[in-house]
Amino acid sequence: MSTRLQGRDLLCLKDFSQEEILQIISFGDKLKLDAMAGKKERYLEGKSVAMIFQKASTRTRVSFEVAAFELGAHALYLNANDMQLRRGETIADTAHVLSRYVAGIVARVFAHQDLVDLAANSASPVINALSDLSHPCQILGDLMTIREKKAVLSGLRLAYVGDGNNVANSLLLGCARVGMSIAIACPKGFEPKDEIISMATDIATQNGSSVLVTNDPIVSVQDVDVIYTDVWASMGQEAEHEERVKIMRPFAINADLLAYAKKDAIVLHCLPAHRGEEITDEVMDGPHSVVFDQAENRLHIQKAVMALLLC
Ligand code: CP
Ligand code: NVA
Repeated sequence: MSTRLQGRDLLCLKDFSQEEILQIISFGDKLKLDAMAGKKERYLEGKSVAMIFQKASTRTRVSFEVAAFELGAHALYLNANDMQLRRGETIADTAHVLSRYVAGIVARVFAHQDLVDLAANSASPVINALSDLSHPCQILGDLMTIREKKAVLSGLRLAYVGDGNNVANSLLLGCARVGMSIAIACPKGFEPKDEIISMATDIATQNGSSVLVTNDPIVSVQDVDVIYTDVWASMGQEAEHEERVKIMRPFAINADLLAYAKKDAIVLHCLPAHRGEEITDEVMDGPHSVVFDQAENRLHIQKAVMALLLC
């Protein structure tokens, strides 16, 4: 397979054009249909993929590992604590060495700079499996899910309600790229980074969509097609959990808030959910929720990402 994506790193969605994002999503759709028809094409036959994890994971780890297997590749799960990294080997040296062995490096890190350093020193593409700054594979899967449910992306309106975190940052860039309008509602002091908001606003303006950041959850969800939320304390912020819950209570997705969205609005959550905090059981298990289809699509989209980038 030869495309303009081959050999590229996937660190941040800002580095990908609308056309490239739609290409990845369409390929994810195809691979999903193929899998449903019992066809599994081995685009990465005989290759290996290193997966470095500095943080916990259920979906990302398992979906990447299964995706690699179904593409004919071998995935090596590497807990960063068990690597020489923990004993002082540099990220740069690790990248040089691993890329002598593997066709790609998938990495989940605390500091986004670690991904930048990995990519700068690896001969093989590096894929961001979540950093403190962003979660691009999540958002590619989310866009695939939204298009699957709504048939289009451009022109839709999405509200993200809660903490202005890594997922919010990538949603801002992903929605802006595909021409979706996005409203982010967070408590004061928990907004996404100014730099990301202004980058997303510029991209959205070029695509005829808009970016709104508000401290009012009701304003954000008025007549939207999609409501999205995530945990209030991300990995690494466990010590702030109790305080954050107090501050973010008014930003919970419950039936009352959902009533302000369009009647056929869908509800997404990247998971894991803290039920009873950012989302009620009623909404998470209710007819608007597509969270488990969303989780499934991580598998298909990451197959597409690896097949397109690593081949
Ligand atoms: N959504 C997501 O990335 O989940 P995990 O932390 O379980 O990988
Ligand atoms: N914002 C969350 C996402 C988990 C998939 C975190 O970083 O912990």
